[in-house]
Amino acid sequence: MATLPQIDQMPVDLSARVQGRLFDSHGRVITDLRVSITDRCNYKCVYCRTGQVGAQYAELTTAEYLRMIRAFVELGIEKVRLTGGEPLLRKDLLQMVRELSSWRTTSGQPLDLAITTNGHLLESLARPLKEAGLTRITVSMDAVDEATFERVTRIHGSFHAVVRGIRAAQQAGMGRVKVNCVLLRGFNDDQIEGFAEFARREDVIVRFIEFMPLGEDRLWSPEIVVPLREIVNRLSAVFPLLPLTPNSASETARRYGFSDGVGEIGIIAPVTQAFCGACSRVRLTSDGKIRTCLFSNFEHDLYRQMRNGASDEGLQEYILRAVDKKEARHHIGEPGFLKPSRSMVHIGG
Ligand code: 5AD
Repeated sequence: MATLPQIDQMPVDLSARVQGRLFDSHGRVITDLRVSITDRCNYKCVYCRTGQVGAQYAELTTAEYLRMIRAFVELGIEKVRLTGGEPLLRKDLLQMVRELSSWRTTSGQPLDLAITTNGHLLESLARPLKEAGLTRITVSMDAVDEATFERVTRIHGSFHAVVRGIRAAQQAGMGRVKVNCVLLRGFNDDQIEGFAEFARREDVIVRFIEFMPLGEDRLWSPEIVVPLREIVNRLSAVFPLLPLTPNSASETARRYGFSDGVGEIGIIAPVTQAFCGACSRVRLTSDGKIRTCLFSNFEHDLYRQMRNGASDEGLQEYILRAVDKKEARHHIGEPGFLKPSRSMVHIGG
């Protein structure tokens, strides 16, 4: 993927360092950093991987990720989500979480520290992660039925481990676990009602995600996307839904409760109801590149700056320049839309 080398030379307003808040050129406050700490994954989900071992990019050391994350946090990032690939595959994950949980934001608060995992290794790690200071867990799980789960992930024998992992995380006391389900018409759209029951039975927050054009294959088409409206109609036919008030302006999910107050559903609709106007996110890929949008056609090589000897201040200036280039919105569904050359497994969800 191309980088924008000229941003090294661009003039930059350094006042963000003083204000302790990070703004982009569209007036949005950037508070949320997602870091892919590996692009290895033990799954081969149909919507993400080719099914063969995909392209692998460099994975950095914990010290290298931490130094880059610190530069972001000192500029105003309040929430760090560790993703992958599959972040639980990293042997030094607990050490990384322990370190991050000791940091403070520019306003003196502890970092909001979250992980997105496929849950395969979660059962034994949930409690140690909580003890290391993790505040929230999201588990990706695309079916409540084992056969469908295996068809989507292309892995055998993992389904029950994931369910046990979700229960272990609930019991570890990090607050309600979120369970993400990417809906693909013809693969798992028959799971919608089953997931509503799962949300109620397990007391978790199930979030359906509209499929975005990001995979290594060319699977995406508008027809495969199950739109928010259809999900709401399908659920309402079985369980009366009540819209819930958003937790924050930049929340990606539209939230719904059930009339008896048990369980919660969220719907993340980047395709039919884009939420770019309230976007508060930037991403760091597993090879240390800043992506200011999932659908960016450019990356900014922060790791190269570090390798070339940049000071902490130099890293911050580079981040400010990159954030200043954050796109106003994505262009999914519009003529000329260019799918990014990297899949979620490399970018980090
Ligand atoms: N479209 C929508 N969601 C996706 N995810 C991965 N690839 C896609 C895609 N193309 C989901 C993962 C994970 C979350 C971070 O993003 O399943 O739950």
